[in-house]
Amino acid sequence: MIQIGIRLDEEIGRIHPHIYGHFVEHLGGVVYDGIWVGEDSDIPNIKGFRQELVEKLKEIQPAVIRWPGGCFAETYDWRDGIGPREQRPVTVNWWYMNDGKLESNRVGSHEFVEFCRLVNAEPYFAVNATTTTVLEARNWIEYCNMEQGMTTLALEREKNGSPEPFNVKYWGLGNENWGGGGCMTPEDYCHIYRKYAIISKSVGPELQFIACGPYEGIPEWTEKFWTKYKEMYTVGRIAPMFGYSLHYYVTNTGAMGSELEYTGPQWYEMMRVGLDIEPFLQSQYAMLQAALPAHPVGLVVDEWGVWHQLHGKHPQPGKYLYEQAGTMREAVLAALTLNIFNRHCDKVVMANVAQLVNCIHSLFLAKDSACVATTSYYVFDMYKVHQNAASLQTEVQGKHITYTIEGETYEIPAISCSASVKDDVLAVTLANLSVEEDQDVRIHLYAGQYTGTGTMHVLSSPSPKDGNSFEEPYKVTPVEQAIAPAGSELTVTVPKASVVLLKLNCDSHKPV
Ligand code: AHR
Repeated sequence: MIQIGIRLDEEIGRIHPHIYGHFVEHLGGVVYDGIWVGEDSDIPNIKGFRQELVEKLKEIQPAVIRWPGGCFAETYDWRDGIGPREQRPVTVNWWYMNDGKLESNRVGSHEFVEFCRLVNAEPYFAVNATTTTVLEARNWIEYCNMEQGMTTLALEREKNGSPEPFNVKYWGLGNENWGGGGCMTPEDYCHIYRKYAIISKSVGPELQFIACGPYEGIPEWTEKFWTKYKEMYTVGRIAPMFGYSLHYYVTNTGAMGSELEYTGPQWYEMMRVGLDIEPFLQSQYAMLQAALPAHPVGLVVDEWGVWHQLHGKHPQPGKYLYEQAGTMREAVLAALTLNIFNRHCDKVVMANVAQLVNCIHSLFLAKDSACVATTSYYVFDMYKVHQNAASLQTEVQGKHITYTIEGETYEIPAISCSASVKDDVLAVTLANLSVEEDQDVRIHLYAGQYTGTGTMHVLSSPSPKDGNSFEEPYKVTPVEQAIAPAGSELTVTVPKASVVLLKLNCDSHKPV
């Protein structure tokens, strides 16, 4: 039996809703025809956006959405995406070499802000800090945010249909500048960042800038970047920074099987690599603390997810570039990642799963009039209860899983867990990382009691290889189950390869 201790009086911090964020890039089928079908489409739409997707996305409280890339941002000219749609230029999309698709620019700043409004999310724009100028970036911010009628750019926005400012608060200054974003050194990029941030901040004090950090393969980028950043910081010239971006993909080049077919050890290998995001976050944050001990900057994990890279750089027949369907494996991976973010909510201020639809670790598949919610969608639906709640200390004791792959033996925990409390409702989310065994879990509550009313939701399927598809759109959905009576202890069974949410009414919560 696995034992989990939860202290209702020991809070880690508030779980920022932006941890439950998303990412929409002009890549493959994400924008066209994922979110956007056009106002004249036969597919039911709201102002050109796929209605079913809008409604389902709104349900899970998407909080924040990053746009327009990713790599796409690195050659994006925001001016291509404003003005009458039929007059917008057709351009070469960053991903053209991979799938031959051109960019119609039908979705630009106005449309994307409209999409965010429809789903109640904050927009997070990624600036091109590679192939345009600081002035162009600054002008984009002015165009988006300056009060009605105040400047020529604000008037232009009004002429283009939006007298009200967009109030875009979050701006990423660059994307993967160590790679596609200019192959810069950390020192080069730091110089660029400082320049963009110090110039752009004149457009509004409320702006929140995000700097490009490393991906898991180059953790040392951080130390060099911050050493450079501090040169100016110590002489009193501060380029403002809200967050420091990290990208973490669970990349499968074959060791994890394929998207739909995998062995037990291949399943566990994906879980192990997924769990490794935790020490990555901890060590990166420690570097940020060392750099600015008084006010360390928060982490923004603005790309994460499982990426099956088995088919080269081109789309599979009949699919969009990087389109993946996902099974229970992606759902469990999403659940364990979100548990980690919840437990480190004192460090992680935003996270964006890549990418929303028809792409890497998607929550939706959409083609013609069909729009399917994947298993990962339901994880986000179950986990939304954590938003704005106080994350609690949890201690898991018990079972580990040992497996061998490619001659190496590894051990991973059987259960991943996080817990939070808000308005006397304790939410506990559990992921069973075992693909073979159900787990009995006893939950011990300290400094509070479960009153006996609550719910248990289980996302599981007879086969861990099950997922939702155009043929079977509702094959895997959460099911509500009965739970045991009141007390300070509770025993539940977490089925193999499943995700469980317990929502328990509690009679005392005494924050320290
Ligand atoms: O999400 C796909 C791509 O992965 C993004 O465009 C890029 O930032 C990352 O390398």
